Amino acid sequence: MNFKKNILCIGAGYVGGPTMAMIAHKCPQYKVTVVDINPVRIAEWNSDHLPIYEPGLDKIVRQARNRNLFFSTEVDQNIKRSDVIFVSVNTPTKTFGAGNGMTADLQYWEKTARQILQSAESSKIIVEKSTLPVKTALAMERILTSNQSGIYFDVLSNPEFLAEGTAINDLENPDRVLIGSHQTKKGLKARDVLVEIYENWVPKERIITSDIWSSELSKLVSNAILAQRISSINAISALCEKTGADIVEVSKAVGMDHRIGDRFLNASVGFGGSCFKKDILNLVYLCQNYGLHEVADFWKGVVNINEYQKERFVLNMLAAMFNTLAGKRICLFGFAFKADTGDTRESPAFFIANRLIEEKVELVITDPKALKNAKNDLDEFKEEVSFVEDPYKAASGCHAIAILTEWVLYQNLDFEKIYRSMLKPAFIFDGRNIIDHQKVFEIGFNVYPIGKPALTHF
Ligand code: UDX
Ligand code: UDX
Repeated sequence: MNFKKNILCIGAGYVGGPTMAMIAHKCPQYKVTVVDINPVRIAEWNSDHLPIYEPGLDKIVRQARNRNLFFSTEVDQNIKRSDVIFVSVNTPTKTFGAGNGMTADLQYWEKTARQILQSAESSKIIVEKSTLPVKTALAMERILTSNQSGIYFDVLSNPEFLAEGTAINDLENPDRVLIGSHQTKKGLKARDVLVEIYENWVPKERIITSDIWSSELSKLVSNAILAQRISSINAISALCEKTGADIVEVSKAVGMDHRIGDRFLNASVGFGGSCFKKDILNLVYLCQNYGLHEVADFWKGVVNINEYQKERFVLNMLAAMFNTLAGKRICLFGFAFKADTGDTRESPAFFIANRLIEEKVELVITDPKALKNAKNDLDEFKEEVSFVEDPYKAASGCHAIAILTEWVLYQNLDFEKIYRSMLKPAFIFDGRNIIDHQKVFEIGFNVYPIGKPALTHF
């Protein structure tokens, strides 16, 4: 079959995989290929067990795969054949040298740019999908234009705003699609090619355009502001616990002001995920580089409160359980960084598990989708941790339960049955405020929510 366009995506991760599946699903006239250097990942994308869990993803992959959606490890040949290349390789926080622990490690990005340069035999549009510190596209462009062959590359910024767990809906009905380009004739022409792809399913008024730098910065700032809302409410949750106010009431009252809105105001054990912390630290580093220390400190505060919230949760457990956790058996309900995903990157559960292991706790971890990742993450603690799929079996014989992921399934458990199987006094620490606290208190548990008075039998 002759396709109208050949679209390639380099990087078959949480962003590249679902995004390309949606393009293939909505645009049967295009051939969409996703490549990755990791052969295991590609084999999984080509199997019945996709490498990531995302509601609704299986269905659209199954429909489009081998029709106009292809997964491959063959990078060079696919670069040659493509008209538009999305780059969605990972950009983790740097763990060495200048900007260690703060700025993005761009080595994969640069390597990818060089590979494109080496393999391309015709001009192409390069779309930056990975979140990058501002002005990276310029660096990419410099690498790509360092050739003498007359091949031309247009670099566009097209940040992805999908959230895990709701990725398919976010891709199908995005609040906005943002495309940054040079404001030159060529830049605008390349931009229009990308606009045309999205116009297959996204209403025109939701496709917004800007210059490249503003587009890159918008992505960082969106994530920073979302995370800031969570840290704001989490900071107040600490005050609520000291003073007897209820964070859920406060958050409801505040969120009903339509200027504020009610989303992202749920107090929690802390935010996780691969993006928030990384993107804020990028922003902080950028501000520091430009000598804007007050601005840097302001945003750093969002991360600091998040670290504080996680540590506070552990210290609350310690204080509640008679100041010693050593030898106690504690069950973590949930290890994913949020519900409806198996992803555990930067999960608050990882931090809390490590801290509890330091306190010499015997840990039992349960999660409906993230146990495989949890096992990898905690590989070095084989002695201290066990992994149990069934939450009833996991809690049996434990001193306490800590709810760390907001899986709906935890709301509907039979807590009487769980209580009967646990050691007494039994404790529940609800790091997501998702269960009926009064009800489990009446069953016999000592209950410690976030940002609300504890309910105890002592
Ligand atoms: C990544 C970035 O981390 C994020 O900043 C950006 O917003 C979107 O892309 P994600 O898709 O979640 O997010 O990353 P990940 O699941 O790690 O996928 C990246 C993939 O790129 C991996 O499968 C990796 O094997 C692949 N990769 C990496 C390449 O194919 N080539 C490389 O040179 C490096
Ligand atoms: C985020 C952004 O929402 C998305 O636009 C961007 O593209 C990538 O980063 P994601 O990390 O997948 O998406 O999930 P998100 O729903 O934003 O949740 C992030 C973390 O915040 C999770 O740990 C979640 O549990 C936590 N959270 C969220 C809260 O603690 N309280 C809230 O009210 C909302």
